[in-house]
Amino acid sequence: MSLKIGIIIGSIREGRAGLDVAKWVLEKVQAIDTASTYELVDLKSFDLPFLGATPTESQIKGITSWSQTMSQYDGYILVTPEYNHVVPGALQNAFQFLKPEVANKALAFVGYGWLGAARAIVGFRAHLAYQQIALTQQQINLSFTSDFANPGTENQTFTPGAWHDAELNLLVSQLTGWSKALKTLR
Ligand SMILES: Cc1cc2nc3c(=O)[nH]c(=O)nc-3n(C[C@H](O)[C@H](O)[C@H](O)COP(=O)(O)O)c2cc1C
Repeated sequence: MSLKIGIIIGSIREGRAGLDVAKWVLEKVQAIDTASTYELVDLKSFDLPFLGATPTESQIKGITSWSQTMSQYDGYILVTPEYNHVVPGALQNAFQFLKPEVANKALAFVGYGWLGAARAIVGFRAHLAYQQIALTQQQINLSFTSDFANPGTENQTFTPGAWHDAELNLLVSQLTGWSKALKTLR
């Protein structure tokens, strides 16, 4: 069964570290699982209002485009940083617009931060579980202290440890296993 998986770039910040992380994830998981199609989904490219605010014409199109984009995937990998121990506000807001688009689909986390965005991921699991998303046990926690050179400076560079390869293998196995099973449910 062929799957289509979206890799969501959860930071919309200019100069975000998340872009390099997401590109690395794409390269790794596509090599692990050549039978499926993996694509980057850049949150930054969708003009979304804050949920509840009156949308502009452009934002109405943005909501539709976000909904249609997320609908087409069988599962997701969410690449997220941590701001004040939670996921970025724009990321949480974007998921507030979704329900049928993501229900009965699987999602795996790749976090990056001083503690691999571990606290943000724990919190966001509760939100996404309510949206009927199946969240894999395996997650990747990339740390500024071990997976980045010159962390916190303008020379910061993403240098992921080789030990994450085994974690990515398990993540892909759990994500695709559930994505296949849930496809039959949908
Ligand atoms: C206001 C603010 C709060 C932050 N809070 C955290 C935090 O709670 N945990 C953490 O690991 N890093 C924290 N950071 C550092 C970010 O993880 C870091 O800036 C990272 O590069 C953000 O990801 P991005 O560049 O992809 O947007 C914070 C940064 C800012 C500006």
